[in-house]
Amino acid sequence: MNGMIAMAYLFSAVMFILSLGGLSSHETARRGNIYGMVGMAVAIIATIAGITSGAYWMVIIAMVVGAAIGLSLAKRVAMTQMPQMVALLHSFVGLAAVLIGWGGFLDPRVNLHGSAHVVHSTEIYLGVFIGAITLTGSLVAFCKLQGLVSGRPLMLPARHWLNLIAILACIVLGVLFVPAQVNAATTLNLLVMTAIALLLGIHLVAAIGGADMPVVISMLNSYSGWAAAATGFMLGNDLLIVVGALVGSSGAILSYIMCRGMNRSFISVILGGFGSDGGEVSDEEVDGEAIAIDQQELADDLKAADSIIIVPGFGMAVAHAQQAVSDLTDRLRGMGKTVRFGIHPVAGRLPGHMNVLLAEANVPYDIVLEMDEINSDFPSTDLVLVIGANDTVNPDAVEKPGSPIAGMPVLEVWKARRVVVLKRSMASGYAGVANPLFYKENARMLFGDAKDSLQGVLGKVCD
Ligand code: TAP
Repeated sequence: MNGMIAMAYLFSAVMFILSLGGLSSHETARRGNIYGMVGMAVAIIATIAGITSGAYWMVIIAMVVGAAIGLSLAKRVAMTQMPQMVALLHSFVGLAAVLIGWGGFLDPRVNLHGSAHVVHSTEIYLGVFIGAITLTGSLVAFCKLQGLVSGRPLMLPARHWLNLIAILACIVLGVLFVPAQVNAATTLNLLVMTAIALLLGIHLVAAIGGADMPVVISMLNSYSGWAAAATGFMLGNDLLIVVGALVGSSGAILSYIMCRGMNRSFISVILGGFGSDGGEVSDEEVDGEAIAIDQQELADDLKAADSIIIVPGFGMAVAHAQQAVSDLTDRLRGMGKTVRFGIHPVAGRLPGHMNVLLAEANVPYDIVLEMDEINSDFPSTDLVLVIGANDTVNPDAVEKPGSPIAGMPVLEVWKARRVVVLKRSMASGYAGVANPLFYKENARMLFGDAKDSLQGVLGKVCD
């Protein structure tokens, strides 16, 4: 039986690696998901088959309750709420690591000595530490994304010293905890470390500003992977160790890529904004007057343009405008115009958010370009349509050194001959900073819900 389970785990691990490979491009993403689902189904069956205590009923009850909650949540959660959902799911992984760590520590059947005891205690200590940070960090991220707490960074005085003291205290407690046998003092050490790690998780994420939240989400993804790997060590489950390491390292690579995309220091973000001013939000006024146009004027502009770039953002997701965007694109291409899309790496609220929506509406992949591929083409473009994007097209990022988003590369849409921004009001985007793009001479605003505006414009382009 053990041999069969080991084989099944090996098969699942290969499926997960193929899944990650598949998820790296649009064309193979669907296949990647299928590999992941097959791998997970085999892993669950093998794990249940390996239960030696005979307590199948407990697992079945847990699975039925979990699946019912998961199904009802998955049905209700809108695409725009996915980041919150992901943050919440990460917190469950952290909670599981903390509970399993404490369970392993309090288990009266465990009676280890010498190096076996040291290994066991180290697994418990690290598992609880990483799990506790992941748990509260993910809950704070959830609250920020859900709007339950402000997205502004929490700037406590001497906050980096507080982090350093907390980490040093955990190291000292760990040195005391690991070699000692279970007694009142070791229980207290683990308890104090758990409390410190829970507070550290809150503080690390609370200190990060709105514009840097994408990196936080992928970083917590990575932490949840390491928490799962730690759980794998505690439970002696090889597959959980492999899967945790895959999630941990792919999350770390994604965080690194996003930091590069946003020109942020990776170390600074994982240490709770160390070395930065935390991206203080300032919604200061911008001088100038924004010029509003109506749907007919945009339709006329589109008819007159030869080259068009569409830049979608979070507002396209809110308005569910992707199908209207796709219909307008088909129509304009049918009229012989060159239409392409420019996608910012952190547009929307999830990595790849815009790509998923456009793929869902059958926009051809070959006209959907990444920021680096399209940024130099704006000066030779007749018309740019900014659909519900804001921070990712803010000129202050490259033109105003003191801005909270300074240094973040953006789509330089203002360099085109004409830019039309579709949004409902003059409100700022996720980072809470004003956008001077709206006041540029060549910029026009088409106010209203993006889907309604695009449907109206399509009708007028067809007239
Ligand atoms: P945002 O800067 O968030 O701006 C979205 C704009 O859409 C808003 O200004 C809003 O203006 C408009 N909007 C909302 N509903 C609309 C509707 N129904 N119709 C038309 N417009 C609508 O968007 P972005 O440019 O995509 O930037 C993303 C931001 O989110 C960045 O700051 C990024 O750092 C952050 N973030 C990203 C991620 C990931 S991983 N992608 C995760 C967390 C945070 P009105 O209210 O005036 O309509």
